[in-house]
Amino acid sequence: MNNNNNRNPQNSTAKKGFATRAIHSGYDAQQHDGALVPPVYLTSTFAFDSVEQGAGRFAGEQPGHFYSRISNPTQELLETRLADLEEGEAALATGSGMGAITAAFWTLLSAGDHIVADTTLYGCTFAYLEHGLTRFGIEVSYVDCTDPAALQAALTERTKVVYFETPVNPNMRLMDIAAISALVHDYNRDIKVIVDNTYCTPALQQPLTLGADLVVHSATKYLGGHGDLVAGAVIGDQQTLEQIRLVGLKDMTGAVISPFTAFLIMRGLKTLELRMERHCRSAQQLAEMLADHPAIEAVYYPGLADSPYAELARRQMKLPGGMIAFELKGGLQAGVTFMNQLQMIKRAVSLGDAETLCQHPASMTHSTYTEEERAAHGISEGLVRLSVGLEAVDDIAADIQQALAALSA
Ligand SMILES: Cc1ncc(COP(=O)(O)O)c(C=O)c1O
Repeated sequence: MNNNNNRNPQNSTAKKGFATRAIHSGYDAQQHDGALVPPVYLTSTFAFDSVEQGAGRFAGEQPGHFYSRISNPTQELLETRLADLEEGEAALATGSGMGAITAAFWTLLSAGDHIVADTTLYGCTFAYLEHGLTRFGIEVSYVDCTDPAALQAALTERTKVVYFETPVNPNMRLMDIAAISALVHDYNRDIKVIVDNTYCTPALQQPLTLGADLVVHSATKYLGGHGDLVAGAVIGDQQTLEQIRLVGLKDMTGAVISPFTAFLIMRGLKTLELRMERHCRSAQQLAEMLADHPAIEAVYYPGLADSPYAELARRQMKLPGGMIAFELKGGLQAGVTFMNQLQMIKRAVSLGDAETLCQHPASMTHSTYTEEERAAHGISEGLVRLSVGLEAVDDIAADIQQALAALSA
């Protein structure tokens, strides 16, 4: 139906390093008047030479774009890069992370099917499963996916999808992608293991190489990287991605990415590896500082030597990531006081931006859970989430220290 062949052999840079592919993959300047930066195709529709050509494109029998709700050259180039970076055959870029997740689920599931999801999920993913899909006859089981016996016991012949994040938003649990994928596929090769890779990006972790079937992203976060867009992506095999494009995107969500947003994400991708290294280096330093501070009850960061996930993080992630969660002594009230005291660090949801962002999951990103659900799903009321930005780490540390000092004042 469209010509979204995500790998152009002529321009293939697949054997080159990650940073090289993030900059060059899929683009040949000589095909575009030598323009160093790919042009943005701000067009909704595409003119046909003839009725026959139009019909051929609609039927999927001829290559070429026909309407930008299905594909667009700028979107296509971004998809080529994302597929390349995640080591997938194909990708679909969408108008938001929720657009990516919902387009995938609407495509893969029918009434009577069953999903196994980890106990803790991003708040709107949980709301979509719990209050959305269940209205259409789809059953969801929430299982601690770090527990192989519990996961095994939850699988049924109706299970179509196993879904989790790693690290988990917001409590920083880690899932063993290779072990979970092997367990699920031993049970039934047709079950799709879907990993939300938003927290890591392919610069740190590539779930498809570890056995997962699909990766979803909120590209709003590190992939875009500058807090100036909302977008998402699904990456995986060509056939499934084609279905998600033609069903989940075209007919069921319409969650289309704008060509200009696709351009901005490609600009972000050029510095992705660099940025992730800096996010991780600063997060490591700040996590160690927090762990040593007398006002802190607990720090959740897989780069800490005493983290229960330290070994898995070393095995599965290139670096431990730019996100930290922590609890203050004094719980919720201490957390609120701390956050209100921050000067440079912004009180804001989202993550992965140049600016350090601090938020309170129970009242913000995870307020889609009831208090009882949060307790059952491992999201404590006092948890504070920090997205470590790209500012000088000493300045981030100083802001945190002065806010912590206010707690004892
Ligand atoms: C882990 C994770 N997945 C998915 C989403 C949804 O993405 P978006 O806000 O781009 O729709 C978010 C948003 O915060 C997220 O943190």
